[in-house]
Amino acid sequence: MKLLLKNGTIVTSDKVFKEDILIENGLISKIGKNLEIDKGEVVDLGGKYVMPGGVDVHTHFNLDVGIAVAKDDFYTGTLAAACGGTTTIIDHMGFGPKNCTLHHQLNKYKSDAEKDAVIDYGFHGVIQHLNREILEEMESMVKDGVTSFKAYMTYDNKLQDEEIKLVMKRLRSLGAMTTIHAEVHEEILELREKYISKGKTDAIYHAKSRPVKTEVEAIKRMIKMSKEANDAPLYIVHLSSGDGLDVIKKAKAEGRNVYAETCPQYLFLDDERYLEDQDRGLKYVMSPPIREKSNNERLWSGIAEGNIQTVATDHCPFDFKLKKELGSEDFTKCPNGGPGVETRIALMFSEGVGKNRISINKFVDVVSTAPAKLFGLYPKKGSISIGADADLMVIDPDKQVTIQHENLHENVDYTLYEGMKLKGYPIMTISRGEIIVKNNKFIGQKGRGRYLKRKTIF
Ligand code: URP
Ligand code: ZN
Ligand code: ZN
Repeated sequence: MKLLLKNGTIVTSDKVFKEDILIENGLISKIGKNLEIDKGEVVDLGGKYVMPGGVDVHTHFNLDVGIAVAKDDFYTGTLAAACGGTTTIIDHMGFGPKNCTLHHQLNKYKSDAEKDAVIDYGFHGVIQHLNREILEEMESMVKDGVTSFKAYMTYDNKLQDEEIKLVMKRLRSLGAMTTIHAEVHEEILELREKYISKGKTDAIYHAKSRPVKTEVEAIKRMIKMSKEANDAPLYIVHLSSGDGLDVIKKAKAEGRNVYAETCPQYLFLDDERYLEDQDRGLKYVMSPPIREKSNNERLWSGIAEGNIQTVATDHCPFDFKLKKELGSEDFTKCPNGGPGVETRIALMFSEGVGKNRISINKFVDVVSTAPAKLFGLYPKKGSISIGADADLMVIDPDKQVTIQHENLHENVDYTLYEGMKLKGYPIMTISRGEIIVKNNKFIGQKGRGRYLKRKTIF
């Protein structure tokens, strides 16, 4: 029941210091110099970094998109997350049967995760249709710990702007967050039809049919509506473009209640990938699409300057063989999404901290502390403090790893980052005081993860 971590370099979102951490019954009970115990396990970290475990607030385990089901379930997905240093996920529940209640989806997702998850988990609600009952039901969802909801401006179950405004107002009154997939649907539909009718069916036309301006316009509309809805808290998921960021930056400067998330694919990849021969660019079909290269550094600056609060993954994996390949003749038939839940922390550490794009404290903030704060989990999660859950990751800053799909635990037949050479990698993951990953090997139990009833923060 006792675990003592000695000689670690503790890194939080605002400090770096060398002290020991004592864990008792899954909680951090002491932080100090030269701590000793007479019973229990002692691990000497030899100066390596010990940080709050990663909090990934955007995954899609088991997501059913009609033509395919996301390949990771709550076992393989959370195991892969844990191997990459993540100790908490918040999953975006998928769409359920027509007209189903919010609790229908919550109950389904809870029962899937309960038997499988190896780390702690929460859920964002999904609003697939709107009426008086759904608005009413939001209150009991919030009481049940679902304190954020996602509305889509695109795809089949998208909401109209007036509906999203009602959602914002209602969630504002409940202290909960509206999260938005921001892309203007009508323009995308027109462009898709235009390209397909001209026989332009390659993956690059997926990107061309969802240009940056569709994201920019969508973000502008949502910010205006959030202002009109008494400054309802608004969180833009998977921000992909520098121009979209500029809109958010301006709104924040004007005092708007807006937050932004980006994902590694928008920081590391560019639209040249859609022209790759061997996979016909299909591995990169996701929405929003990956952008022209200059967007990468603009988004990094957005993180460094504090206009992007979180880096999550939007992990939504489909095998290339037989699934992404459905889009071989027509990009609109390719299931949207890509994997990334295991590589997020290592990528951000190596390329962010290692290449001086962000400080080590900013790194901890965007991968753990800020998402925990924004989604009602802090300080239990996302902190190293007395009484917090002992959810920790240890990073060896000198460990060199070349990302190879065959060494990852994600249950999918490719990684977006094959061959990338990284310096610094998570070597141990601790969840509620239990070492569950050591040197890239999962040693915990299936189903040990717990449901997190999240708080409201607004
Ligand atoms: O293409 C993507 N991102 N698929 C996952 C669902 C979503 O839009 O977040
Ligand atoms: Zn989305
Ligand atoms: Zn998503």
